[in-house]
Amino acid sequence: MAFRFNFSIENESDEPDAGDKSESQLGSLAGSRQAADAEAACSPRLAAPKHQDATPKKQCCLKAAKEHDIPKDVNQVLENKVVEAVSGLHYVNMSVVEMTLLDGSHGEDIVSKSVASHSDLIPGVYEGGMKIWECTFDLIDYFSETEMQFTNKTVLDLGCGAGLLGIVALRGKAKKVHFQDYNSTVIDEITLPNTVANCILDGNETGSRDDRKTSKPPSKRLKKAKCLPDLLTKCRFFSGEWSAVSQLLLSSSKPFSKYDLILTSETIYNPDYYSALHDTLSQLLDKNGRVYLASKAHYFGVGGGVYLFEKFIEERNVFRTNTVKIIDEGLKRFIIEIAFNISS
Ligand SMILES: C[S@@+](CC[C@H](N)C(=O)[O-])C[C@H]1O[C@@H](n2cnc3c(N)ncnc32)[C@H](O)[C@@H]1O
Repeated sequence: MAFRFNFSIENESDEPDAGDKSESQLGSLAGSRQAADAEAACSPRLAAPKHQDATPKKQCCLKAAKEHDIPKDVNQVLENKVVEAVSGLHYVNMSVVEMTLLDGSHGEDIVSKSVASHSDLIPGVYEGGMKIWECTFDLIDYFSETEMQFTNKTVLDLGCGAGLLGIVALRGKAKKVHFQDYNSTVIDEITLPNTVANCILDGNETGSRDDRKTSKPPSKRLKKAKCLPDLLTKCRFFSGEWSAVSQLLLSSSKPFSKYDLILTSETIYNPDYYSALHDTLSQLLDKNGRVYLASKAHYFGVGGGVYLFEKFIEERNVFRTNTVKIIDEGLKRFIIEIAFNISS
């Protein structure tokens, strides 16, 4: 099943165009990565927008926030799922999930809507969480290269989709890991199953670039969990629009401590969301905390990107940003570290 952005309804074709080629070259960080990530990572195909308008538009009908309970019998989360592995991380085959959801059995019906609109993103309806986007792997590489310490940290994987960033933190002995995605279907059908798979599978491999050279057959290693795995007790799962999720967390009767680390990949494509994203970061990040944000330089057809978001942050004057890594192959990608301004 082919998914793509659909910002132009003209020249509609299932064949990649010239722009597609440069995007699809993004996965070529290493030979291993090409093989492993080509299957896992989403390379959105973009066309020029039919009507490009720089003015941010208000989104209507944004999704309410909800916390997703972890089922007592976690094995049921993996029923009808095919589990694969990349970089020592386990994840459910998303095409299989999409097939099972095509009957509209999940209330949001995002798969049918996505297919019908030929788009990986339907603003306010479906925000792309059914794919693993390539900047996720950039951030995982960065954590591995810098030996990022997660021990005893409270971590939020913001706009998590598959949740691989949170899972890496969980395996790195984080104290708590919270996952947030816009779509409840993504949390139920992808994020939670991935987290369960990584919690109940043996081994403690964390994903490094070298691991990708040997993609292991994972499903053979799946064991039935007899009780809630310890790792899973550190996790909470949320769906909904960013402002609504912040509200839910801050007003909840459950104790909430701000995050030491907020990890977020490919979440700044739409400038309309910058205000909500910025406020969410400022409300949920601990005063000494850090955000690690991975993004493409620019999202053609959507309008967002690193430069625009940095400018937005600068104007708000709450955070400072520091570019910690540039990946200069194909379309440029960045990893940005964000921390509170000393003055704020
Ligand atoms: C392109 S996907 C990236 C998914 C994942 N981080 C990855 O790299 O594979 C963007 C994610 O950002 C989240 N997102 C985007 N806009 C949002 C909004 N306004 N409120 C809440 N979540 C949003 C969605 O959950 C979506 O999964």
